[in-house]
Amino acid sequence: MSNDGVNEGRRRVLTALTSVVGAAGVVGVAVPFVGSWNPSAKAKAAGAPVEVNISKLEPGQMMTVEWRGKPVYVLRRTPEALASLETVESRLRDPSSEDSTQPEYVKNRVRSVEGKEEIAVLLGLCTHLGCAPTYRPEVGAEDLGGAEWIGGFFCRCHGSKFDLAGRVFSGVPAPINLEIPPYKYLSDTQLLIGEDQEA
Ligand code: FES
Repeated sequence: MSNDGVNEGRRRVLTALTSVVGAAGVVGVAVPFVGSWNPSAKAKAAGAPVEVNISKLEPGQMMTVEWRGKPVYVLRRTPEALASLETVESRLRDPSSEDSTQPEYVKNRVRSVEGKEEIAVLLGLCTHLGCAPTYRPEVGAEDLGGAEWIGGFFCRCHGSKFDLAGRVFSGVPAPINLEIPPYKYLSDTQLLIGEDQEA
């Protein structure tokens, strides 16, 4: 067969393949388009950032959202709770979060974005073996140490305790503070979890 004949043969095969890919492409586009009507399922599958409206979150309340299949705790701390964070530092394992995992812009005592100190965003997975710690904001809870307890998180699996900034107490199995995922504010009431704020 001449070169022209070979090239003509290849052209026909390529044309046929392109037609098949083209038809498959239409199906491929149509499915995600339908999926876009269900953003939470789509976001979960893709690991996309998740938008959270915190306008209804009252002081002392916590909400849980799902990001990349993991629970993320978002809580609005009261002024009293924020002030009390300083008082427990001698009993914490990593009070300055030096050995813990969080974005640089929340590496401070309250572990929040500057100017939004009342809002904490924490990965709801214990840093020991990954159970979901329970939110226990009641100051002085008898089962958690009485007068010493200023509110925080308690992991029922093996008894780890964290303060309201997710900082771990000494003498419990969890080795480091609760992790903080990347996040940023789209407005005063809208958070985007999974994306870093601009420097
Ligand atoms: S998993 Fe939380 S203390 Fe073990």
